[in-house]
Amino acid sequence: MTYKYNYVILFEDFGVIFVIRLQKQIADLGYCSRRKAEELITAGKVYVNGKKITELGTKVNPTDEIRINNEILSVQEKEYYIFNKPREVVTTTSDDKGRKTVLDFFDIDKRIYPVGRLDYDTTGLILLTNDGEFANLMMKPSSKIQKVYLAKINGIMPKEDLITLKNGIVIDKRKCIPDKVKVKSIDKKTNTSFIEITIHEGRNHEIKKMFEYFHLDVLKLTRLSYGSLTLGNLKSGEYKKLSIKEVKTLYSLIKK
Ligand code: URA
Repeated sequence: MTYKYNYVILFEDFGVIFVIRLQKQIADLGYCSRRKAEELITAGKVYVNGKKITELGTKVNPTDEIRINNEILSVQEKEYYIFNKPREVVTTTSDDKGRKTVLDFFDIDKRIYPVGRLDYDTTGLILLTNDGEFANLMMKPSSKIQKVYLAKINGIMPKEDLITLKNGIVIDKRKCIPDKVKVKSIDKKTNTSFIEITIHEGRNHEIKKMFEYFHLDVLKLTRLSYGSLTLGNLKSGEYKKLSIKEVKTLYSLIKK
């Protein structure tokens, strides 16, 4: 694997020592995302060379032994998967309420974790990997990776509301402008409609909050695509390993 270090220190008898922030090293070793690593550090779960470290940003080098929950971390080959998440599944690696997690569907020996999140009742495409740097880049709003959702809503949006939505609305004090909004179908009998909506941010409950703004409920929500990836023939509960080419294409979509 290739490392990208934040810092390089030249020294003494050793020549060159590479140092890296602890949370980044944990993510790079494929244990979990950088965000999760920060939580583990502040919760006192991380030991470096036998010493508990709780300070974020502590620098480590590749020879330092990192231990979390009695597991000594080591370099893993990077792997990337897409998964078609069913309803009533959480997008975490464990759940204290005993609910099914996305990992319950995987039969692999690598430790992987989801890139971002989908709600418990949302279905569709989610990426999983053990590549912390990749996960971070995919989740960064500035990377502008587009995600397409199909929402079934309990109403039919008037044209004026669709225009308002397309122009952007303020949610939780922040402007939220979808990349695309398209009405796919309307059913006057049941007063429901399907709307396809493309966003590049990943704020919690973003799509539901957009419709809530117009006093509409999302009855069903599915993520159809993530950047260049679509569900294709993947059935609910199935996963697929991504090829190098598919991963490279995702990287090429990142806005610099
Ligand atoms: N927006 C939502 O409201 N829920 C999701 O699961 C994803 C995006």
